[in-house]
Amino acid sequence: MSAQTQVRRKTVKDIAKAKGGMPLVCLTAYDAPMAGLLDPHCDVLLVGDSLGMVVHGLPSTVGVTIEMMILHGQAVMRGSNQAFVVVDMPFGSYETNSDQAFLNAARIMKETGCHAVKIESGAYAATQIRHLVERGIPVMGHVGLRPQAVNVDGGFRAKGRSQAEWDMALDEAVAADRAGAFAIVVEGVSEELANEITAAVECPTIGIGASAGCDGQILVTDDMLGVFDWVPKFVKKFGNLRGEISTAAENYAKEVRSRAFPAKAQTYQLRKPEDT
Ligand code: KIV
Repeated sequence: MSAQTQVRRKTVKDIAKAKGGMPLVCLTAYDAPMAGLLDPHCDVLLVGDSLGMVVHGLPSTVGVTIEMMILHGQAVMRGSNQAFVVVDMPFGSYETNSDQAFLNAARIMKETGCHAVKIESGAYAATQIRHLVERGIPVMGHVGLRPQAVNVDGGFRAKGRSQAEWDMALDEAVAADRAGAFAIVVEGVSEELANEITAAVECPTIGIGASAGCDGQILVTDDMLGVFDWVPKFVKKFGNLRGEISTAAENYAKEVRSRAFPAKAQTYQLRKPEDT
């Protein structure tokens, strides 16, 4: 028997029972070292399809593939050991029907070992959510601003300013909840709408640009670390990685060019016979 203490992974039950309690702490993660740094502080790590924009430089999440999600999901699973890991189902992998959604979700679960998938839940998606949950796949919903709908929305815009948008976000959240979603991301809506959605659903809501009224919060990690100059209004930068990385790269370049790096301390020397 090993004397090592096993860390218990959070389960879907831990997440679901957070409703109305201590806010859930959630961040995106796309690779193993970052997952390892974030893991001790987070309840949920989301391998978001935002990785298409953040890591791969795509203009939106529409071009993200299942293979990309699986590769990054595997890395995040290797790097983490206590957070509940959710992998996004990318655009085109679940919308056709429940069978398509199940086959792709099962593949993501099997090949990454993740604990749940997330679906951007338009009203139609309640059917897919129920189908997956009944077959053993926990599902997180996603309402309000749905980035995979960027082409019908004509950009990334906050939702719920008109009555029609308000009703749509609320209806989609209630449909996802009743279909069995264990949590729902609420993105880019007013505090009033976030409060109404949070009160209307039994599962926890996780806000991103949706106020402190939600049961938890999520941000894109690179946004909150300050990797990008421009970030949406709802992001608070908790770090300045952009500044630190460019200063480090500038100093490295200076030292390489002046031959200050590598110095003796970073250089292998031949061993003298008496050292061997
Ligand atoms: O793809 C993503 O990272 C997301 C979060 C921002 C909620 O969906």
